Amino acid sequence: MPGNVWTIVVAAGSGARFGAAKQFEPLGDRSVLDWSLAAAASASDGVVVVLPPGADLPPGAVAGGDTRSQSVRNGLAAVPSDAAVVVVHDAARPFAGGELFAAVVAAVRAGADGAVPGVPVTDTIKQVTPDGVVVATPDRAMLVAVQTPQAFRADVLRRAHAKGGEGTDDAALVEDLGGRVVVVPGHPDNRKITVPDDLRWARDRVASGAPRTAGVGR
Ligand code: CTP
Ligand code: MG
Repeated sequence: MPGNVWTIVVAAGSGARFGAAKQFEPLGDRSVLDWSLAAAASASDGVVVVLPPGADLPPGAVAGGDTRSQSVRNGLAAVPSDAAVVVVHDAARPFAGGELFAAVVAAVRAGADGAVPGVPVTDTIKQVTPDGVVVATPDRAMLVAVQTPQAFRADVLRRAHAKGGEGTDDAALVEDLGGRVVVVPGHPDNRKITVPDDLRWARDRVASGAPRTAGVGR
């Protein structure tokens, strides 16, 4: 499938678990967000960045919403109608490389409705009730932990979001439509900055000179 690739970098969260809007924290010589934007730009024909409501909006930026899914929808509204593939990436994952973006885009160009990076789960995962009673123990061999960047056929992602649904990722909304989402190899170091310890780890990683995960990017 030919056509342009546009990436939406969602950076409109408030970072409740971190204690601050972590995407603006320094990491090496720039912000966490700038790492994510550089990788997105290296792998896309265009980038839309979604910033907290009330922030100054530079060209190419839009204001986010109350939830991650709403922020993606606001970004999607700014993606040109000729985009064939739309990638959604968390600003809070600074170490995704250009090759990881290329891998999810290639899987969509090859015919999938969506493609997500996944890594094997090392802990045993239990499904529990809200009061903590175990319901089931899914076979770990059938589980992956998924990351961003996530790529989609643009028409499918727009349809998935037209219903106004909420999910912790975009693939879930596409799955709800019956879309075929495939997993490509992610990387354990493509870790989301969620709590302060994640940023300490990321700073150590930069200081040690480690490369981006799953390839290059700037
Ligand atoms: N995000 C967003 N708009 C929201 C919520 C989240 O653009 N309303 C973005 C975040 O900025 C982040 C990504 O979605 O880059 C992943 O979300 P998460 O790690 O949960 O970040 P926060 O929602 O900011 O953190 P928390 O859940 O701890 O408040
Ligand atoms: Mg959140």
